Amino acid sequence: MRTDIIHYLEEDIRKRCEKESNFFGMGGYHHIRAVVKNAVQLAGIYGADVEVVTIAAWLHDAASITDYALYENHHIHGAEMAGDLLKGFRYEEKKRELVQKCILNHRGSKVMEKQSPEEICVADADSISHFDAVPSLFYLAYVQRKLDIDDGIDFVKNKLTRSYQKLSERGKEIYKDKYEQVISVVV
Ligand SMILES: [Fe+2]
Ligand SMILES: [Fe+2]
Repeated sequence: MRTDIIHYLEEDIRKRCEKESNFFGMGGYHHIRAVVKNAVQLAGIYGADVEVVTIAAWLHDAASITDYALYENHHIHGAEMAGDLLKGFRYEEKKRELVQKCILNHRGSKVMEKQSPEEICVADADSISHFDAVPSLFYLAYVQRKLDIDDGIDFVKNKLTRSYQKLSERGKEIYKDKYEQVISVVV
């Protein structure tokens, strides 16, 4: 396990999130940490390489938290950033490429063929992480987007439902109860 890389990322991502220039505020950090936690859990179930998914999960939104201008294509920019960073750490080439694929294909809204268990794992971990961060979603709705009460509820409910629908078939099965419980609290 390349704990040197993982420790570096824990620190580096937190620092990037703390910067004034990070549009997503510390909500972004909570999100990324939840994605890491879920990716590690799912790796065991999906038979994915836990080191690869941990590194990819830390880096999957690195471009968005660094520069909001990169948000639209943050999967592409993030994969490039990860490539440079991991080359610096002399990370094994095959694994580096897999990390980059996980980042490139993590977005459910950009439908691309996910070929490896690692890619499915990171994408599912990303989608389900909204369920660990319901307070952050309300913060996004009421503080950042300044929605009124009803619109905020709709916003959060839609975001959670869309996230659930983006899961792989296996992910939907695993998280069915969690989805129903969280939705019942929000609405
Ligand atoms: Fe993302
Ligand atoms: Fe994400």
